[in-house]
Amino acid sequence: MITREIQLTAQITGTPTRDHFTVTKTEVDGQVLVRTDQIGLAATYLELMRADCTIPVPAWQPGQRVGVAAIGTVVRSESPELEVGDLVQSMTGWSEYSAGPADSYLKLDRELFADPGYHLGQGPTAYYGMAEVAAVGEGDVVFVSGAAGGVGSLAGQIAKCLGAARVIGSAGSPAKADYLVNELGYDAAFEYHDGPTADRLGELAPEGISAFFDVVGGEQYQGALHAARPGARFALCGSLSSQLGGAAQRFPQPDRAAAEAKGVELLPFSCYHTPDQIAAWREHFSSWLDEGRFVYPQTVVEGGIEDVPQAFLSLLQGSYQGNVSVRLSY
Ligand SMILES: NC(=O)c1ccc[n+]([C@@H]2O[C@H](COP(=O)([O-])OP(=O)(O)OC[C@H]3O[C@@H](n4cnc5c(N)ncnc54)[C@H](OP(=O)(O)O)[C@@H]3O)[C@@H](O)[C@H]2O)c1
Repeated sequence: MITREIQLTAQITGTPTRDHFTVTKTEVDGQVLVRTDQIGLAATYLELMRADCTIPVPAWQPGQRVGVAAIGTVVRSESPELEVGDLVQSMTGWSEYSAGPADSYLKLDRELFADPGYHLGQGPTAYYGMAEVAAVGEGDVVFVSGAAGGVGSLAGQIAKCLGAARVIGSAGSPAKADYLVNELGYDAAFEYHDGPTADRLGELAPEGISAFFDVVGGEQYQGALHAARPGARFALCGSLSSQLGGAAQRFPQPDRAAAEAKGVELLPFSCYHTPDQIAAWREHFSSWLDEGRFVYPQTVVEGGIEDVPQAFLSLLQGSYQGNVSVRLSY
């Protein structure tokens, strides 16, 4: 069948614009045909569109569909593995329909969560980083940078559920800082444009932080080092300040000497979402939801496939909070 999809027109070297994307008609054919219901968006995807991509997977090329996580409904199947009406997840991305072998789709439990869109969240990364890498537990004082974003909005709640004594988050606006405290259960939050991170952490965690979940890097990483207690654990997850900031920030030089002096454990990690990591997250997430200890932070944009690039650009500009997705209308 003929479908509409979004392709990259050119690899991105500077600021991404609407002109980097085009809507194209293509033919899809395969054992299973799936209508895309909802598409996940995340800042990481910009990295995969860049000519100097730093992620160790093949970057997208001009003329390629933007292939990111999406959930959809099976509308035709020649496989005993999948039936019409099944909910599936795949990396088929910014396309109205996709087709392929049944084993290229992961069947999802439609009943597991109140909203199927929860399957698109960044929970496995947040849970693995907080529980396994930073190994946060009872009594920890935790700082989460980028705390209103897809990963960070889950990471802070996970720290609380794991028993952290105090969780502090940073975000890019006063409204987002309020959201962290009033809706996501953070103990304190600050707007990172509002003075040096080291000063804000000095006020909000006067006895220092014992763990840091970092998705931003740069100045916030330096501030966290300043506020770290000896032996603090730093789970280094992402580098939004260099991914989304100006060119001068693109390849930051973290200060290792300060970490060495305090014996801070610098723990960079890459989460490829193994089945074990996904299962661990889903198990904890569904029980925390049932117990009323967790909310799923999300922004759902309603629109057609042609609206996906603009939603992505708005995400990069900080217009949304939580895990962002586009629910497609037809
Ligand atoms: N290690 C892994 O396995 C792994 C897995 C997934 C993601 N990651 C990484 O984790 C990071 C966070 O991912 P995400 O999906 O949570 O991000 P995201 O929510 O998609 O990022 C969007 C947010 O970035 C913030 N932002 C924009 N410009 C910024 C700047 N110059 N400095 C700091 N923040 C800025 C904005 O929030 P504010 O308005 O609050 O600034 C915006 O809402 C990324 O670096 C990603 O590559 C790593």
